[in-house]
Amino acid sequence: MAIKYIPEPFRIKMVETIKTLDRSEREKNIAEAKFNMFNLRGEDVYIDLLTDSGTNAMSQEQWAGVLKGDEAYAGGKSYYKLLEAGRDIFGYGYIQPVHQGRAAEKVLFPTFLSKGKVAISNMFFDTTRAHVELAGARAVDCVVEEAKDPAKRAPFKGNMDVAKLEKLIAEYGPSNVGLVVMTITNNSAGGQPVSLENMAAVAAVCKKHNIPLDIDAARFAENAYFIKQREASCKNMSIKEIIAKTFSYADMFTMSAKKDAIVNMGGLIGVKDPDSPLIPKIKAACISYEGFISYGGLSGRDLESLAIGLYEGIEESFLRYRIGQMEYLASRLDDAGIIYQSPVGGHGVFVDAKAMFPHIPYNEFPAQVLAIELYKEAGIRTCDIGSYMLGNDPDTGEQLKSQFEFTRFAVPRRVYTQAHFDVMAEALIAIKAKAGSIKRGYKILWEPPILRHFQAHLEPIKS
Ligand code: F0G
Repeated sequence: MAIKYIPEPFRIKMVETIKTLDRSEREKNIAEAKFNMFNLRGEDVYIDLLTDSGTNAMSQEQWAGVLKGDEAYAGGKSYYKLLEAGRDIFGYGYIQPVHQGRAAEKVLFPTFLSKGKVAISNMFFDTTRAHVELAGARAVDCVVEEAKDPAKRAPFKGNMDVAKLEKLIAEYGPSNVGLVVMTITNNSAGGQPVSLENMAAVAAVCKKHNIPLDIDAARFAENAYFIKQREASCKNMSIKEIIAKTFSYADMFTMSAKKDAIVNMGGLIGVKDPDSPLIPKIKAACISYEGFISYGGLSGRDLESLAIGLYEGIEESFLRYRIGQMEYLASRLDDAGIIYQSPVGGHGVFVDAKAMFPHIPYNEFPAQVLAIELYKEAGIRTCDIGSYMLGNDPDTGEQLKSQFEFTRFAVPRRVYTQAHFDVMAEALIAIKAKAGSIKRGYKILWEPPILRHFQAHLEPIKS
């Protein structure tokens, strides 16, 4: 039976009307969008779950902060407020604002990575992988085996496989491993958490081999909440204490603030050691790419709302509700026998489209099939995290086969209510009931050479 929905720890003060189109209009829209979710107009979507990034609802305190933002070019008040929040929460000596997560990666990664080096992660997010490669290095994933089986429940499916990490370091040679990155939560594996124990073990390996350790911290607060729930030794710690402990194991962090810091734009770099020789390099690169040190590509008003959002995002009552939404949807899927990456992750539900359409092969993109059906069924926009997103082998041009065929329901923070979650569950149940009659998938008519899923044109394959 479905679990109880955790009531919102806020009330609604401003609303945005959303359109409900009928099925024939949606069918026309998705065909006109060449069956690519990124080509749909936002206003033609009823429930938008394309991403939880930058799509969050800010609080009245954050909006009040927008009015108070100090727009001084150098040394504004909002900058100092953000520094204080960052130092207080993460315990790091140096905090650098940047315009978003990938900007942090662009500024930091080339200082550690170049041709001939590798970076190893529990799992790289797409842009993180891209910035490793743009720096000339290679990106290697090293997640625990249990992450690869969606039906298998384990408390920390986001963890690094520590034995494999040791093996990889020995294989490449420690001096060739430029960086280890711990992504918390592990987005690509389904928003799965990393345990504190695993952080400590990875940090010990890095220390032994003198390899710098970076946290990709986009969903650091959700990760801390899972640790509190699932790691017995942490159950009496506050979320803030767990965060401080987690970050104490790393040397630096890169963060997209568009997720757990509940803002529409922003990012951070943190360095633990205030005397690190890294800091002058970050400052120099930031001035060239992002803007002066005290604004990093953001407006003063963005810095102000980010400083406030960092605290709102770590409130336990908020996190209980936030993770509770995912658990509610997951429990409705359990009732209906719909398989997803389980237990459910922090920022969304990753539905196993391979299990729903076992007759549709990877090169007809089952997760994209499910995304398209969800739009046609209920105006829900999700995305493919599978072979369609993975693309082609750069050497042979052949379609790659992804380990997973997930359709991702990424949930914006403080935006949708229980009734919206019921619409999501009911749409999935209706699609499952007719899954056998959806015989074929899609073929690609046109695609750009890299990151093709954002732009490709598709067509249904006639059976
Ligand atoms: N790292 C992780 C783990 C992410 O999930 C993202 C973005 C980034 C880095 C890059 O941050 O977008 O601010 O430049 N993830 C979004 C998503 C886009 O939909 O999962 P950004």
